[in-house]
Amino acid sequence: AEADDQLIIDAGQKQFSATTCGSCGMIYSADSLEDNFQHTQFHKRFLDSIKFVGWKKERVVADFWDGKIVLVLPDDPKYAVRKAEDVRQLADNELGFQQVSLSCPSQAKTYLFVNSDRVVIGCLIAEHIRQGFRVLEQPEQTKDMTKEDFMEHHRVWCCSTTPEKAICGVSRIWVFSLARRKGIATRMLDTVRNSFMYGGHLTKEEITFSDPTPDGKLFSTKYCET
Ligand code: ACO
Ligand code: ZN
Repeated sequence: AEADDQLIIDAGQKQFSATTCGSCGMIYSADSLEDNFQHTQFHKRFLDSIKFVGWKKERVVADFWDGKIVLVLPDDPKYAVRKAEDVRQLADNELGFQQVSLSCPSQAKTYLFVNSDRVVIGCLIAEHIRQGFRVLEQPEQTKDMTKEDFMEHHRVWCCSTTPEKAICGVSRIWVFSLARRKGIATRMLDTVRNSFMYGGHLTKEEITFSDPTPDGKLFSTKYCET
């Protein structure tokens, strides 16, 4: 029993010494050499990745008092695509994704939330997902058909691979740990719904989240019902 008590006390003390870095958000034990080393390494890489120097041509799709949302497309200049990839890698590390490729990288749209200190504090990757099949209409051919012909024809229609509608799949959504619960994710999604399809507005039902994490589920349930 004495040994058990000791373990609990030790665990308690370890937790007490946990420090959260105010710049990179990493939680570590400042008393541990190993932790300090890991933090120093992470800190630099992280801040480099989220630093946003600004580009001559930025596709700003939303403006707010505390930042803006920049859209990066696959055919954009290398420096823009590179920044989007750097941030995605940070998000992937945190989400535990290991080299999971996007379902269609040539069509993925990356939304970066850049704050007024020129730091990327949010990232959302949206892709087209096609679901359902539309029945093609060819009424002029049905006039002189036998019932069998009609059924056969109808079956062919139903097997048409024409997508019924384009749905937007969110394959990544990430907000910097120190900037959460300030509506960053909400504003990124609102912006996706307004800008994803040219000239169209997506409803909340037309957005799907792939493989949501517990955080992602809490957020998306809240977002979709309001
Ligand atoms: N716990 C409970 N409710 C939450 C949480 C949470 N962790 N996060 C969001 N919500 C709900 C709240 O109701 C919140 O409103 P409130 O703050 O007024 O109560 C509402 O959703 C809106 O939240 P936002 O502030 O817009 O969300 P935020 O900017 O904090 O980002 C996100 C949410 C992206 C899930 C963030 O927590 C994050 O990056 N987590 C780590 C990465 C991750 O898990 N991402 C989801 C992966 S799933 C995927 O990528 C498809
Ligand atoms: Zn740090």
